[in-house]
Amino acid sequence: KASPRVRKAFPILIKKLHEFIVEADVTVEEWLAACALLVEAGKVTNDQRDEMVLVSDVLGVESLVDILEFKRTSEAAKKEQRVKSNEASHSAILGPFYRHGVQVQPNGTTIVRQFEKDADYTRLFGQVFDHEGKPIKGATVDIWHDAPDGLYDAQDPSKPQNHCRGRFATDENGRYETICLRPTPYPIPFDHSAGKLLQLMGRHPYRPAHIHFWIEAPGHKTLVSQVFDRESDYLKDDAVFAVKDSLIIDFVPIDEGQSSKAGYTVPAELKDV
Ligand code: DHB
Ligand code: FE
Repeated sequence: KASPRVRKAFPILIKKLHEFIVEADVTVEEWLAACALLVEAGKVTNDQRDEMVLVSDVLGVESLVDILEFKRTSEAAKKEQRVKSNEASHSAILGPFYRHGVQVQPNGTTIVRQFEKDADYTRLFGQVFDHEGKPIKGATVDIWHDAPDGLYDAQDPSKPQNHCRGRFATDENGRYETICLRPTPYPIPFDHSAGKLLQLMGRHPYRPAHIHFWIEAPGHKTLVSQVFDRESDYLKDDAVFAVKDSLIIDFVPIDEGQSSKAGYTVPAELKDV
């Protein structure tokens, strides 16, 4: 017997789907092409990404689901009065390049695993709080971003494993810290189904420069989010609609005149690689 959830959701799905087909006057040829595109999206790609998620992303679906999830959970938390303020950090979509099981490394160490000559080395740090504003010790913070060539480690076998990717545990004050790079705008992979859709719609595949986070701690809801570079292109037309105002941050030079381009400090262990 169908669950209450299914009994509620499926009639809506079917109704809206039929409405769409009627209203857009979808042809048999178009429908079969759509099915073929989904079959294609279900196949495993070289970089193991989930193309089906990517297809949902260019249609704005993952982003919409994320917005609803954030609203639902923060409203529930408020109702249960677990929250003192409603200033919880906003979530954002996961995207296709998260990797499970990365080893925790010490705070302050770098996630840049090979020297990147033209990049801005960046001190990235933060603090993890619970809903009452108490720092959480021992939260794990996964961080990942693209390399200066716009590729994630999984997309480029010539990169060291976990290049621009790392996992940290917060200290007793809830703090974590690493050296990463200032990320660059980047096209989502467009060599497959999602790319085909973008092309059909005449849209570009670019995302604004961003850094991904996956923050979890026992007894707490996991936070998946991203931060965006205020100076990046594409903040207003992210190919996957994931930008939220509260997640736009400033990259501030800390060390004028030092070795790298915009004055960020290159970690000593990378200087002579
Ligand atoms: C998508 C998200 C990303 O963060 C990324 O780097 C590539 C693609 C996406 O949602 O499709
Ligand atoms: Fe990304």
